Amino acid sequence: MTASAPSASPLRVGLIGAGLIARQHLLAMSRLPDVQAMGIASRTRAKAEALASEFAVPLVADSPEELVRQARPDALMVLVSPQAMAGMAFACLSFGLPLFLEKPVGLSVAEAEDVARAAETSGARTMVGFNRRHYSVFRQGLEKIRERGRLLAVHVEGNERMAVARATGRFSDEVLRAWLFANATHTIDLLRHFGGEPEQVFSLCASLREPLGDQFSACLRFRDGALGSYTANWHSPGGWGVVLKGEGVTVEFKPLETGRVAYADGATLTLEPEPDDQGVKPGFVGQLRAFARLARTGVLDAPSQSLAGALLTMRLAGQLAAEPRPLG
Ligand SMILES: NC(=O)c1ccc[n+]([C@@H]2O[C@H](COP(=O)([O-])OP(=O)(O)OC[C@H]3O[C@@H](n4cnc5c(N)ncnc54)[C@H](OP(=O)(O)O)[C@@H]3O)[C@@H](O)[C@H]2O)c1
Repeated sequence: MTASAPSASPLRVGLIGAGLIARQHLLAMSRLPDVQAMGIASRTRAKAEALASEFAVPLVADSPEELVRQARPDALMVLVSPQAMAGMAFACLSFGLPLFLEKPVGLSVAEAEDVARAAETSGARTMVGFNRRHYSVFRQGLEKIRERGRLLAVHVEGNERMAVARATGRFSDEVLRAWLFANATHTIDLLRHFGGEPEQVFSLCASLREPLGDQFSACLRFRDGALGSYTANWHSPGGWGVVLKGEGVTVEFKPLETGRVAYADGATLTLEPEPDDQGVKPGFVGQLRAFARLARTGVLDAPSQSLAGALLTMRLAGQLAAEPRPLG
């Protein structure tokens, strides 16, 4: 199934930010007839106008306040640059609307704590865009593990491509310095997604060039007893991957968008992404459906994360990067 059944009145959504990821969210929205983009506000009006015209969004506003006043949205999606996310999140909490916030909501644990605290005080319904949690191959892979028994271990490989990130020229120095929170949290979050909350974390971190570390090796024990590992080497080719270990079964996602199952008797199986994850950025339709349900009912279903959940991922990132030693 790719689309929700239309309901009497579509959810009216306002978008803040008109960049690459706003476009991906609008593509996902085109799959869900019961979610409609009613307006866009961004810093550069011309970019917002181009995006609005491409997706037939009826309003372009010069500020979030004007967006809320004129488009009368039921919910907002905050899709601005990483360095602007925390400030924009604070500003949008005052509207009292359900908020979808792209990751990272803050470039440090302290910033994420401030935003999460403010959201809790205001009682806002929030969801943070860890879209990989919504990959259909991840759900299928976990089912294959549970069909055979318990999840025994979660191994995450989170190699970032720092040279590529720098070469694009798209990221400010502030964001590059905080890359651990700005981008590496995508794979760090997968430790919590698959394993639950870690009870013990033993981490080693070294730095070739990056101030918060760029070489990571960690062992974890999750609350239900499963073990985990996290390795990342940001200046060496490798990419992102996850391996799940079960009773007589191993599931590998590498690259993350693909899944392979191997059984103890030698049998193997390929996991196919479901239609929701084809032709759009994977996980985006699933997370949008989850956000629409949050906005309509107040219920945030697993595996989605609120600001409070995202804060736990930010704190785990901080633990993995504790006391980086220079490599010389
Ligand atoms: N989930 C994922 O896989 C994924 C992937 C990529 C990015 N992201 C996240 O999505 C967010 C946006 O990334 P992007 O790639 O779309 O970046 P982008 O292409 O640079 O777009 C950012 C947009 O936000 C606008 N903006 C920046 N500061 C603003 C402010 N203070 N007020 C209003 N608008 C502001 C920018 O305006 P201008 O047009 O004036 O520049 C631009 O339209 C980031 O937080 C990023 O971490 C998530």
